[in-house]
Amino acid sequence: MPMPILNKKLKTQFVRDLKDKDQVQNPFLVKTSSVGLDKNSKPFMNLILMDKTGEVEARVWDDLSRHGGQVNADAFIWVEGKVQLYQGRRQVVVKSIQILREDEVELNEFLVEARLNAETLYKELLQFVHSMKDPFYKALAESVLIDDAEIVSKIKRAPAAKSVHHAYPVGLLEHMLSVTGLLDKISSHYGSFLDRDLMFLGGFFHDIGKIWELSYDRVVDYTDEGKLIGHLVMGVELVERKINSLEAQVGRLPGAFPLEKRLLIKHVILAHHGQYEYGSPKRPKCLEALLVHYVDDLDSKVNSIRMFVEKDESASRWTGLNKQYERYFYKSDSLVGHK
Ligand SMILES: [Fe+2]
Ligand SMILES: [Fe+2]
Repeated sequence: MPMPILNKKLKTQFVRDLKDKDQVQNPFLVKTSSVGLDKNSKPFMNLILMDKTGEVEARVWDDLSRHGGQVNADAFIWVEGKVQLYQGRRQVVVKSIQILREDEVELNEFLVEARLNAETLYKELLQFVHSMKDPFYKALAESVLIDDAEIVSKIKRAPAAKSVHHAYPVGLLEHMLSVTGLLDKISSHYGSFLDRDLMFLGGFFHDIGKIWELSYDRVVDYTDEGKLIGHLVMGVELVERKINSLEAQVGRLPGAFPLEKRLLIKHVILAHHGQYEYGSPKRPKCLEALLVHYVDDLDSKVNSIRMFVEKDESASRWTGLNKQYERYFYKSDSLVGHK
């Protein structure tokens, strides 16, 4: 019997190509969905639509009761509407929505392609691991970043966040490498009073719990484990597990894993958000932990502001309002000219 030909709705418009005043009639993947109220207390639905080329905001004003509950993150929808510019950003004003089944779309048209080469970045990360001197710290790094195939495969795909910074495939690995590279330069600059290997472990492991904190097969979201435990504690649990397993392997370590080193690496992970109100149960209490925190903060800010400025589409020299930083950014030639 011949196979029925599925009538798939293929994309003819991609997010990257949408321009002001374009009519939209295409399938999209819903990244986020929320309901807000306008100045007159009229409810509207705020969506972020995505496909493999990017993301665009969308507003739904009509028929909210019909769509509510169905238009959720991870849903495929057929959208009809029009693009308009709002505060320098494109926005689709939606006229109608229809829910699509997964077999009605071509999945590859929606999954974001990694713009970074994971294999190249991973090899660079291994250079840092190979350069470590402390046999205990080095064995710990190897047990996670080389020996554990499941972790390595997740590291080669995971984003570093849902939206704040490095929020794209392989973003976590890019962030790990960037933080470790900066820590390497800082350790050369200040010299031998800093424990370079401990800082390297901070670069590798401070956010490694994100490979389980986030789900990223389709839309990036928090997992139950991420919401209930979080990446700082998950990182500490990983370190505890790996040290115990290294100790159980005959001849893998020069002796018992020193308690002080075990405590210090856990502290660097637990303190990397810097302050209690940013989720750190401990504030940095050694220089290495303080530097990991500062460099982590620096790297995430550089990345998030760069992405924000690059994505701004207004013709002005100034971006729209950045809510996270509560300011408008100037679009310098050096940044906008090097997309
Ligand atoms: Fe973090
Ligand atoms: Fe980080």
